[in-house]
Amino acid sequence: MRIGVLTGGGDCPGLNAVIRAVVRKGSEVHGHEFVGFRDGWKGPLEGLTMPLDAAAVHGILPRGGTILGSSRTNPMKIEGGVEQIEQNLAALGVDALVAIGGEDTLGVATRLDEHGFKVIGVPKTIDNDLNATDYTFGFDTAVSIATEAIDRLHTTAESHHRALVVEVMGRHAGWIAMHSGVAGGANVILIPEVPFDIDEVCGWVEHRFQAGHAPIICVAEGAVPTDGDLITKNAPLDAFGHVQLSGIGEWLAKEIERRTGRESRTTVLGHVQRGGTPTARDRWLATRFGLHAIDAAHEGDWGKMVALQGVDIVRVPLRAATAELKTVPAELYDEFKIFFG
Ligand code: F6P
Repeated sequence: MRIGVLTGGGDCPGLNAVIRAVVRKGSEVHGHEFVGFRDGWKGPLEGLTMPLDAAAVHGILPRGGTILGSSRTNPMKIEGGVEQIEQNLAALGVDALVAIGGEDTLGVATRLDEHGFKVIGVPKTIDNDLNATDYTFGFDTAVSIATEAIDRLHTTAESHHRALVVEVMGRHAGWIAMHSGVAGGANVILIPEVPFDIDEVCGWVEHRFQAGHAPIICVAEGAVPTDGDLITKNAPLDAFGHVQLSGIGEWLAKEIERRTGRESRTTVLGHVQRGGTPTARDRWLATRFGLHAIDAAHEGDWGKMVALQGVDIVRVPLRAATAELKTVPAELYDEFKIFFG
């Protein structure tokens, strides 16, 4: 078979490890050929390709980003997009696709599967919010980076007797904020799933100062106050209808300073969480996903996504994986409230 591989949506440490595993096992064990599609769904839509063989994947295992490039192109929003992809795959002699992506990229894969395309999905997102898999690769790297940042913020906060707010990624789900906030010993953690009361937050901040320490507030970009709205950038929606977030950290620091009189500052980690070399754990998971994805393709088990359940890699229908997001349960959030304030 000739198999096309693409990476879509926000990039994520470990993408190259998946590509390498797919190509190495696919060519060396199963005897398939590969075509790299550039920049997510833009590749199949516009026929943008690059060679993808053993030489192309040599040395990419520890590299961040994706050698294929990525984009948030949505072929379902383009008139005749599906037919265009069909024609390009036929012209390139591509029989099947391995799509590596998050909810949006795999949402398109699900629709293409319904149209009869041969597709296998691999879950990717630093946000860890994809259903049907216990973890996505990239998450461990993002959490490590955010935890290190919180460790560093503690010492400067203590020196200056300031409240420091750290804003991490997490549009709909607070997994990064939860894991890094707990690992880094943040004094307040705020997530999109649980709207927060600013008076309560200020109470925790003041309590921490009273105990002789400087508070660290870890907030996910999608967190919202009980009596306010999501803070967004004044930017156009992307092709999947997402607003651009960020700003809640700045808002919090200002409100804390105004209400408590304590000096407060913000650090927005942003894309630093997504860039650079993946952790060993992410390389391990990404490699396993790649090996199992190419096995699924070789067996013709189309319309599936590989997923981690416990310690096993399983196959789940693409539809099940993209039907809803995996968010932080309220009980899990409550477990850590003992550390607030
Ligand atoms: O990959 C998901 C994510 O990390 C979200 O948490 C965040 O809102 C988004 O990407 C931002 O990505 P970009 O700046 O590439 O649109």
